[in-house]
Amino acid sequence: MALITNDEINAIRSKANIVDIIGSYLPLTQRGRNYLCVCPFHDDHSPSMSVSEEKQIYKCFACGNTGNVFTFVQNYEDVSFLDAVSIVAEKCGIDIDKRKLKSNNILINKEEYEIMNFAEKFFQNNLKTEFGTTAMDYLNRRGINEDIIKEFGIGLSLDTSDSLYNILLKKKYSASKMLELGLISQNADKNFDMFTRRITFPLWDKDGNIVGFSARIYRGEKDTSKYVNSRETKLFKKGETLYNYHHARDFVKQEKSIIVVEGFMDAIRLSIEGVKNVVALQGTALTKEQINLLKKLHVKVILCLDNDNAGETATLSNGEQLVKEGLEVYVIRLSGEKDPDEYILANGIEAFKNNIASSMTYFDFKVNYFKKNKDLSKTNDLALYVNQVLEEVANSNDEILTELTLKKISEEYDLSIDVLKEKIKGFKKVEAKEVKKFVKPVKEKKDAYLQSADKILFYMLNGGEFIDEYRKKLGFFEDALHREIANEIIYYYQKNNTINPADFISYVSDKDTIKNEVMDIVSDGMEDDISIEVMDGYINRVDKLMVKNEIKRLKIELKNETDASKKIKILDRITELKKND
Ligand code: CTP
Ligand code: MN
Repeated sequence: MALITNDEINAIRSKANIVDIIGSYLPLTQRGRNYLCVCPFHDDHSPSMSVSEEKQIYKCFACGNTGNVFTFVQNYEDVSFLDAVSIVAEKCGIDIDKRKLKSNNILINKEEYEIMNFAEKFFQNNLKTEFGTTAMDYLNRRGINEDIIKEFGIGLSLDTSDSLYNILLKKKYSASKMLELGLISQNADKNFDMFTRRITFPLWDKDGNIVGFSARIYRGEKDTSKYVNSRETKLFKKGETLYNYHHARDFVKQEKSIIVVEGFMDAIRLSIEGVKNVVALQGTALTKEQINLLKKLHVKVILCLDNDNAGETATLSNGEQLVKEGLEVYVIRLSGEKDPDEYILANGIEAFKNNIASSMTYFDFKVNYFKKNKDLSKTNDLALYVNQVLEEVANSNDEILTELTLKKISEEYDLSIDVLKEKIKGFKKVEAKEVKKFVKPVKEKKDAYLQSADKILFYMLNGGEFIDEYRKKLGFFEDALHREIANEIIYYYQKNNTINPADFISYVSDKDTIKNEVMDIVSDGMEDDISIEVMDGYINRVDKLMVKNEIKRLKIELKNETDASKKIKILDRITELKKND
């Protein structure tokens, strides 16, 4: 399967207006020729991001994030460049063959993904054989039908005689590869399947590649753990995945929220019932990477963890972290059954949806939590409770929330609002919350040569006449990076017969050595009016500086040279350079 061509990428880009695409994520206001918005890539409080409709480029003047329409989507949605191309195409109603958009990651780990996909298919097929009837019965009893089995890639691992190991060996995959992927384990030089006689669930990375498995007992076995999970491998990093993330991502935008549950069976149940904006932690604690995955969705988080003490404590600590990271957090505490899966089976999906509709803010959850194990009719307990709530409010830095809470407490417990206000001041002093301020990254200032060289390259990105001008009047740069970019520009133009900064950004998206510099160059030039005359000014400047540097270099060479005839040659060259200066 051929990969997508640059022409196809450019066609999508030229059909997509960057103003419309960015505008579909964020409100934009027109200011002169450009559009302005609050930058989503740093903690921005004033509109620092400018979007140029004319050049089809955006740039944040504070944090420096810049690029074309694909770069924006790539950064905003935290997806690969090619996924961003696919998202933009979809937004513009362009049909593209998704199979062409294989990410580099897939190409790099081609064999590994092949094996994982094969393992999934093998496990799935086992379910359909005679060995699979008990497992099938178990799944059906839990309300999991054929469609769901397919959607979630559910399968069955068999006894050692019908092992995945044997079949992979037959397919010429090495035992060391299987070991590396966590599919087998080794004991006394013998190889064993990692998962045997269990129902298997593939685990995916954030992009939907299978990276591991979790396998559940199904025949009421005792003395063995309910789930066995893949160990950490080069593909599988448990703390970096959220179960169902790649499925949920498509539904999050509609619902404007993401529901977080503990077990993947809970996520599957919700999904079956049509609530598809759901991910599972596969445990209780959120890691930093998982928080970042949630952050990238730009929607509110609804925590719906198990109905037990562990679930409650986890709601408290996870909620705390998410709020600290600036996310809007809501909480559902189910009553009766142990987890969302059982709750829905017992009460139906509508009952669960009612819980979503009436979910409380994390703040309210926490205030309720403070009531736990206290008898508020006792003065001591009440004083402790009120103090805890006031401290919480003081830390929130939210004036309206403060005002409302004070009023409520004052009325509910007949306390003077002035006393409460005084008390809050005390908490503020002790626990004054550090307000994280965005610090503009300091960039090394470029010298006159580099600044002008950047400008010349930017002009070259704006059309053949500028490229000709460069070739005629300058022809090369003294530093390798600018030389390389100039060569890429010339090559690109010869191939495409047309050039503009926005398409060139797509072209360099996988060229690591020059990508950042090209981004810099384009963002610096975003506001420029382009003309040959101005370009000539930069060419002259670079030319002079390069001559000066060349003379400097030759003088050093002259000093070190002992051979008389060679010395003369160098001198001649210096004189010649000085004449043209
Ligand atoms: N888990 C695990 N190993 C275990 C138990 C749990 O890895 N021995 C993980 C699983 O990822 C599971 C999650 O923790 O999805 C939640 O555990 P639990 O609430 O016990 O599982 P349920 O979702 O209720 O699973 P089931 O309904 O199948 O019993
Ligand atoms: Mn369960």
